[in-house]
Amino acid sequence: MKRRITKHGEAVLKKKSAPVDFASTGPKLPQLLADMWETMHAVNGVGLAAPQIGLSMRLAVIDVKPEGKSERLVLINPVILSREGEVTEEEGCLSVPGLYARVKRHTKVRVRATDENGDVWERTGTGLLARAFEHEVDHLDGKLFLDHLDLVKRLKVAVVLKDLKKDWD
Ligand code: CO
Repeated sequence: MKRRITKHGEAVLKKKSAPVDFASTGPKLPQLLADMWETMHAVNGVGLAAPQIGLSMRLAVIDVKPEGKSERLVLINPVILSREGEVTEEEGCLSVPGLYARVKRHTKVRVRATDENGDVWERTGTGLLARAFEHEVDHLDGKLFLDHLDLVKRLKVAVVLKDLKKDWD
């Protein structure tokens, strides 16, 4: 089932999410993940974090489609182990539809997380995947990409946001 995506300004997006207890949440995961994939793919997103469907839990999905092919990553309780290099690229977010801004991130990001089967995995992402790792873990810490902008940019963005919000559901 497609879920409504929470938008900038909603409290759940500003809250630090609680760790997922795999034993108690496990049985609910298949349906929850199916909903997250459906919600994200419907709007051609590359990542979606649980707070974006109103759930304050440390869970996110990523599919950056390397070479155009789907590669679904499930991140339960993800931890960033290391970050290297700097790169500034344009970035957007399904919770801030219509707004894009250049954000400084890292070129190489290593993450450890648990998958839907309870198995722990580690992976080093580069390019868009590195950016997605940082962006989604930020969501779980109550941060949006806008929080990385400097004051001048934030003020500019505030004006645009006010206008965009009229069209959000
Ligand atoms: Co986002």
